[in-house]
Amino acid sequence: MVKIVVIGSSSMDLVVTSDQRPGAGETVLGRSFKTVPGGKGANQAVAAARLGAEVYMIGCVGDDHYGTAILENFKQNGVDVTNVEPITDTESGTAHIILAEGDNSIVVVKGANDSVTPHYVKKSESLIKQADMVLIQQEIPEETVEYVSELCKELDVPLLLNPAPARPLSKEVIDSASYITPNEHEAAVLFDDRSTESALKQYPNKVFITEGKNGARYFDGDKEITVPSYRVEVIDTTGAGDTFNAALAVALAEGKSITESLQFANRAASLSVTKFGAQGGMPNRSEVEECL
Ligand code: RIB
Repeated sequence: MVKIVVIGSSSMDLVVTSDQRPGAGETVLGRSFKTVPGGKGANQAVAAARLGAEVYMIGCVGDDHYGTAILENFKQNGVDVTNVEPITDTESGTAHIILAEGDNSIVVVKGANDSVTPHYVKKSESLIKQADMVLIQQEIPEETVEYVSELCKELDVPLLLNPAPARPLSKEVIDSASYITPNEHEAAVLFDDRSTESALKQYPNKVFITEGKNGARYFDGDKEITVPSYRVEVIDTTGAGDTFNAALAVALAEGKSITESLQFANRAASLSVTKFGAQGGMPNRSEVEECL
C-alpha cells in the first residue's frame, strides 16, 4: 500500500442546483440546496484512500459544526487526521457552488485553510519524509506551496502539484515539483510567456495538461501524447480534477508507467462525474479496475 500525504484545504461545499446561472444584479429560483464535504485537498485525500492508498491529511478546519463534519467524513473514508487541527475562533473553509447549465461556478472562502502555513506544515516533517508521494493544491497560502516544494526537494520525496485554483508560480517551485497538473486555464496562467506546446516540451514527463472529457496531454521527451478520457453520462463535474490528481498520484507512487497512470486517472475521474457532489462519485479501486 503506498503512503500518500495530502497538504491542502478541507471545506464544506454549499451547492445550489439551478436551471440558470444568475447574471450580475439578477435573482433566479434554484431547484435544490445541499451541503456536502469538499475542498481540493480533502477531495484528493478521500479519492486516494478509496483507491487503496494509506492517506494522511495535513490541514486545518474551523471550530464550528462544519469542522466536526469534515473530520468525521475523513474518518469514514479511512483518511488519517492526526495532522488536521481545529483552529480556535475560525470558520471552516466553504465553497459556494452553483450547478447550472451543465457546469459549476465556485466561490471559495478559505477560512481555516489559511492557517495551513509553512510553520504549521513543518510540524509534520517526519511524516512527509516517509511519503511515497506528497499532493498539494492552491487553496492554502502561496508561501506554503513554496515551502513544501523546497522541503520535498530537500527530502527527496516526490511532489505532485495541482496548481488549482490558478495563480502564477515561481520557476523554482515549478522546477522543484516532480509532477504538475494544470488544466488549460491554469496552464495559461503558469506559462503565460509561451504556448502550452513549448511548456510541455520544456518539462517532459512532468507537466500533464488536463482537458476534461478530452483526456490529458504530456510530452514524453520525443513527442506529445494525448491519453484520451472515457465517455460517460455527466451529472456533476465538481471534484473530477481532484479524483484525477489523486488517482495519478496513487498510480505513479505504485510505479505504474506514465501512460498507465494517466489511463487510471482518466478512468477514475470519468467515474467521479456520474454522481452528485465532489466526493459522491469518487470510485473505489475495484470500480476503476473493472472499467479498465
Ligand atoms: O475541486 C473541487 C472543489 O473545489 C470543491 O469541492 C470545492 O470545495 C472547491 O474548492
